[in-house]
Amino acid sequence: MKIIGINGSPRKSQSRTAQLVKEVLNSAAASGAEIEYIDIIDLKLNFCIACDKCHKSGKCVHNDDFQALMDKIAAADALVVGSPVYIFSVTAQLKVWLDRLGGTTIHCQQLLGKYGAVVATSGSSGENETAQYLETSLIFTGMQCVGKVAGSIDTDGLLAADSQLMKEAGELGLSLVKAVETKQEFPEQINMHKQFLEYFKYALLKHQDKWAWEYKYWQDKGWL
Ligand SMILES: Cc1cc2nc3c(=O)[nH]c(=O)nc-3n(C[C@H](O)[C@H](O)[C@H](O)COP(=O)(O)O)c2cc1C
Repeated sequence: MKIIGINGSPRKSQSRTAQLVKEVLNSAAASGAEIEYIDIIDLKLNFCIACDKCHKSGKCVHNDDFQALMDKIAAADALVVGSPVYIFSVTAQLKVWLDRLGGTTIHCQQLLGKYGAVVATSGSSGENETAQYLETSLIFTGMQCVGKVAGSIDTDGLLAADSQLMKEAGELGLSLVKAVETKQEFPEQINMHKQFLEYFKYALLKHQDKWAWEYKYWQDKGWL
């Protein structure tokens, strides 16, 4: 079992979000998972420029680290994504990656069958809304999310190893491993996937000439 963790904070070794993402990963590793941790700030990711090319060709026009990251995620069973709250939402660095999912990853539900978990930290508020936003974004790629750790941290410095949030992160890692091992089903999220396929089918039928690659992908999957 392979699990990837992405931290959206630019603060790397000083990041409390990083601590929590790593704790989710380490707890999963203690149960036998192979893990990989990534600071999004280390990647070169360009903004989505809404050129529409990915829908037509299946490929993004940017030559940066996005595809290599997506290849890693495609080869993994699960993904943990964390972000600090920056003005009521995720960091700009993470949002660049999320916007890039809007192309083939979401339109073609390319992460169906994978599991996710999310982490959000704030200085005072917005952590639950940000965690919810991240979870919804992952569900829209086709993933099922097993849970969230969201905390407001009104102190400077790193979290204590025995803090409540670190304990919750450890438990989230175990939930993630269990979900992958048992192919756990979350009926509400499966329903969201079905609703997406139902709704998006009409968008694709309408744009079938323009979005040729995606149309073919759906045809091959038998979703049309
Ligand atoms: C640019 C910026 C914007 C922030 N915006 C908010 C905010 O809107 N609400 C909040 O409660 N905390 C806000 N914070 C505080 C961070 O969310 C908080 O310190 C978080 O735990 C940092 O995570 P990290 O240690 O992983 O970098 C902001 C911090 C920065 C640098």
